[in-house]
Amino acid sequence: MKTLKPENLPRHLAIIMDGNGRWAKERMLRRIVGHRKGVETVRVIVEECSRLKIGYLTLFAFSAENWLRPKTEVTALMALLKQYIRGETARMMQNDIRFNVIGNRADLPEDVNREIDSTIQKTSGNRGMLLTLALSYGGRQEIISAARRLASEAAAGRLDPDSIDENSFGASLSTAGIPDPDLLIRTSGEMRISNFLLWQLAYAELYFTEVNWPEFDRDELARALKDYQSRERRFGKTSDQLRRGGEQPS
Ligand code: FPP
Repeated sequence: MKTLKPENLPRHLAIIMDGNGRWAKERMLRRIVGHRKGVETVRVIVEECSRLKIGYLTLFAFSAENWLRPKTEVTALMALLKQYIRGETARMMQNDIRFNVIGNRADLPEDVNREIDSTIQKTSGNRGMLLTLALSYGGRQEIISAARRLASEAAAGRLDPDSIDENSFGASLSTAGIPDPDLLIRTSGEMRISNFLLWQLAYAELYFTEVNWPEFDRDELARALKDYQSRERRFGKTSDQLRRGGEQPS
C-alpha cells in the first residue's frame, strides 16, 4: 500500500466501532468475548492514531440506546470500560494522550465515573491527541440539551435569540472546542450514523468497511485514511473554486 501523506490526515477522526457481537457469533463465542477482543482493537487504534499525530479521536463506545441491551451485557461492557480506562492511563501518559468523555455521564455507574474523573485529571496536562469516548451518548439528546440551555438563557433575558448562530450553537455542545470530524469510519458493513455526532458530522467524509471491529487493525485504518486522502472535500464549493483557492466570480 502506498504511504499516507502526513499533511492530509484527518484532524479529527470519529469511529463507530461495530460488529463485536457478530464477530463472536461467527466463532460460536459469547458476545462479551467479542467486546473483549474489541477492546484490544481500541488499544491498537488509539496508539496508531496517536503515532500518526491525529489530533482528535472520538470513539462511540456506548450509545444512549445501548442501555436497552440485556443487563448482563450492559454490566459486562461497563466492567470492560472501567478496566480499559484504569489499565490504559499509564499508556496515555506515555503517549501524551489527553482523555475526555462525552455523553450522559449521570447514567454511568459511580465506579466508572470515578475512573473517568481520575484519568481525565491525570491526563489533563498532556498535549498530544485528545481521545474522547462517547458513553451513554446520543446526538439528538445532545442537541436537545444544548437547545434547552440556550432557551433558558434567552428566557432569563441573558441571551438574544437572534445572536444564536452555528458557532455559538456548536459551542453549546459537549464537543465545544473540538473541531468537527473530518472522517467517520463505521465497521461491520452497516451504513448508518446511528445518532452519533449528528451536528458535528455535517461535512465529514464517511467510510464504511465490512470488517468487524475486532478485526479492524492498523492496515484497515491505513486503508480508510488512504481512501480519505483520495476524496475532494468541497464544502459546497465547486472543484474549480477549490483549485483556484478562492471565490469564483459568478
Ligand atoms: C458494537 O458491537 C460495539 C459496541 C456496542 C460497543 C463498543 C465497545 C467496545 C469496543 C468495547 C468497550 C470499549 C472501550 C472503549 C473499552 P455490537 O455489540 O453492536 O456488535 P453486533 O452489531 O455485531 O451485535
